[in-house]
Amino acid sequence: MEITNVSEYEKLAKETLPKMIYDYYASGAEDQWTLKENRNAFSRILFRPRVLIDVSDIDISTTVLGFKISMPIMIAPSAMQKMAHPEGECATARAASAAGTIMTLSTLATSSVEEVASTGHGIRFFQLYVFKDRNLVSQLVKRAERAGFKAIVLTVDTPRLGRREADIKNRFVLPPHLTLKNFEGLDLGKMVQTEDSGLASYASSQLDQSLNWKDLQWLKTITKLPILLKGVVTAEDAQLAVQAGVAGIIVSNHGARQLDYVPATIMALEEVVESVEGRIPVFLDGGVRRGTDIFKALALGASAVFIGRPVLFALAVDGENGVRKMLQMLRDEFELAMTLSGCQSVGMITRSHVMTASDPPRVVSKL
Ligand code: FNR
Ligand code: LAC
Repeated sequence: MEITNVSEYEKLAKETLPKMIYDYYASGAEDQWTLKENRNAFSRILFRPRVLIDVSDIDISTTVLGFKISMPIMIAPSAMQKMAHPEGECATARAASAAGTIMTLSTLATSSVEEVASTGHGIRFFQLYVFKDRNLVSQLVKRAERAGFKAIVLTVDTPRLGRREADIKNRFVLPPHLTLKNFEGLDLGKMVQTEDSGLASYASSQLDQSLNWKDLQWLKTITKLPILLKGVVTAEDAQLAVQAGVAGIIVSNHGARQLDYVPATIMALEEVVESVEGRIPVFLDGGVRRGTDIFKALALGASAVFIGRPVLFALAVDGENGVRKMLQMLRDEFELAMTLSGCQSVGMITRSHVMTASDPPRVVSKL
């Protein structure tokens, strides 16, 4: 089958991957309402394109935390990528760097920070889960720093794992030939099969549920890297994040895998953007599958977006090449959306290029 859009990778990946693995990648929590809503909400936002603007030369590049990237599309952290393809996270890292963009490596990766760093140059962020063993966390952060990672993405929506029913039914567990490579040699490197999702059991025994705003100050004492807070969906928390001195916020509902019935991220984005008053950049992930979705996120105030599942599905279908092609598709679609909306650069994308049902009636000054 010729793949002409990003979502088609999911269909092919479903045919390729063992059910337990496909279900783990694809699932959301409980009723999966938020999972559907992450997509549906994008479809309720419409364009207000401008015409007769010279669009012969479009620049889609942007800057994130001072790093120039080729497009406002980055790779979200997702765990255990070797279940999708033997080259796992290293293939993703190479594809990201070939595309001129940033990859975020998960704490729960099946390749270590050092292995991913050794794939060559490229800007990479490290996603951090705070384990109960703070010594371990501190060593991990130092390893990421030494390996040249440029920021810490602290995930704050996961004191415990959300209830993903397919994983419970499948008794999901990391296949025994794989290891959580950042913990190689430790008991933590392996996952034990339980009567539940093995990952849910792992998370509840290892992740520090006491994690709170004060710990951010602790984290700042162990690293000089900028910290992005991933999993903020309210204005209240966005303001606390600014006060805590983070470098940026990722509006994320963890791909609808944690608390079900939270709004789609594209619905929560504006309240976060407005509350931080431009002090720090705001990013978004969740349900981004089209170039038009990326444009909409930028129009509502995001500096850039992160992509989750399409990376895993493209990796499963065609390894590094698949991820490269998937990123290229998003890039081309986004560039086309800019062209057809009359935006020459990402800085020209404004709130008035889109409309939502809750927008007040538009007042246009008289001629
Ligand atoms: C994730 N996500 C995630 N987030 C994180 O901070 N650490 C992690 O290890 C993982 N692992 C993970 C595994 C899988 C299989 C998925 C699907 C997601 C969440 C991820 O970073 C991101 O927030 C969402 O995937 C974005 O939504 P989309 O693009 O998948 O719709
Ligand atoms: C997940 C975790 C690992 O969503 O973040 O599966």
